[in-house]
Amino acid sequence: MLDPSADEIRKWGNSVIQLMTDYLCSLRDRGVYRHMFSRRIRDRLDAALPTKGTDFDGLLRVFREDIIPFSRQNAHPRMFGYVQSPGTPIAAFADLLASTLNANLTVWRSAPAPVEVERLTIDWIRQILGFNAGAGGLFVSGGSMANLAALAAARQTKDCLSGRLRIYASSETHFSIVKAAALLGIGRENVCHIAVDERFRIRMDDLVVKITADLEAGCVPLCVVANAGTVNTGAVDPLAEIREIANRFQLWMHVDGSYGALAILAKSARELFAGIERADSVALDPHKWLYLPVDVGCVIYRDPEIVHAAFAHEAEYTRIIGQEADEAFAFWDYGPELSRRFRALKVWMLLKGVGVDALSEAIENNLACARHLESMVRASDDFEMAAPVELSIFCFRHMPAQLRNESPKTIDAFNERLLVALQRDGSSYLSNATLGGRFALRGCVLNYRTTLHDIEILLDDLRRVAKSLAS
Ligand SMILES: Cc1ncc(COP(=O)(O)O)c(C=O)c1O
Repeated sequence: MLDPSADEIRKWGNSVIQLMTDYLCSLRDRGVYRHMFSRRIRDRLDAALPTKGTDFDGLLRVFREDIIPFSRQNAHPRMFGYVQSPGTPIAAFADLLASTLNANLTVWRSAPAPVEVERLTIDWIRQILGFNAGAGGLFVSGGSMANLAALAAARQTKDCLSGRLRIYASSETHFSIVKAAALLGIGRENVCHIAVDERFRIRMDDLVVKITADLEAGCVPLCVVANAGTVNTGAVDPLAEIREIANRFQLWMHVDGSYGALAILAKSARELFAGIERADSVALDPHKWLYLPVDVGCVIYRDPEIVHAAFAHEAEYTRIIGQEADEAFAFWDYGPELSRRFRALKVWMLLKGVGVDALSEAIENNLACARHLESMVRASDDFEMAAPVELSIFCFRHMPAQLRNESPKTIDAFNERLLVALQRDGSSYLSNATLGGRFALRGCVLNYRTTLHDIEILLDDLRRVAKSLAS
């Protein structure tokens, strides 16, 4: 088992491909989710520490019977919860090949061709975002890690100054920014939350007021975080205007585009991202809107050489001896990790195998689905929008006739019960958001399989489940 023969590898491979094909071809026949209990799942798994091996078919049986049915089916076209990518077969194969080669992308000499693939793929992402040729970056585990790396890079630019460092970000910013500030020793309390407008975008007047007040109080304004797609509503902050403010106050400008930045590929959304290419750093997640399976996030720096000082660390066991600049390249000089898997392979295979045109079209279709929901909701008398649709996220509430004259509190409580019932029903899956203190049903279209018809099914599912709640 540890070192199977060629025949065994082939046999295992065929069984895995069969399982994968059956799974992917039966997605629409499955529920997105089923109600389950931890105890029930644990009872199905053999808890004894295995002293002897089990044959491969036995392992696949557990995967097929005990793992797949008790998982949320993230590839399902009506999985609208959170910010969840569906994965794609080409990337599943890429992951298999990456683990087969088991390249470790620490430095060039450890994995010459894989490092070149990562550099090339990062350069394609740089071009997609519109950065100048000198920009660069690397793949990390996800958006949280990309935000952490970017803030670490920002902090190092003001290391020599004394005084409390301050980070500015709208109240809609993802919690990974606050978490990064805490981990970096900047402190949660030094993330200054800026008010948002009626479209949940950062308010520039409040940003200037808060920076000015901090300067007067002797603090050191460090960085402004702009959102390119907030997690709640998909709002994109005015990036070009934020760049102006960052210049005026000499702040690092970081864009958290973990969810939304790749929507720059869709023609109908491109304008929203004007100015992103002038940020000092951008976090984005190929494991969100490039449909790739976890884990692959990405951080792009406008000037990677500035970043070097934040991460470079000399140790005798990592010293690179006798190499030219290109070959002496070390990813650990640009991010927090040392050992790194060959994440770039799945990004490269997707971009090369599918092409940017087809990906742009898929993203455009996701946007169209969210807009379709918004127009259906606005045309209905039993739903209301809770926020305008900016990208592919939609926030709304169900208001069946019997609730129309009830208080917001009653309507919110009903929608909260409806959300749980919908998730248990299994045909469609939404998550939730709190907007202006009110509960909202929240969906995010991030699957190339989702159609306008799926959006119609979602509203029908909600009506059907709501009726069963009432009765
Ligand atoms: C706007 C935003 N930033 C950051 C993150 C964190 O990304 P990850 O889950 O890849 O760490 C998310 C996740 O949904 C997000 O939506």
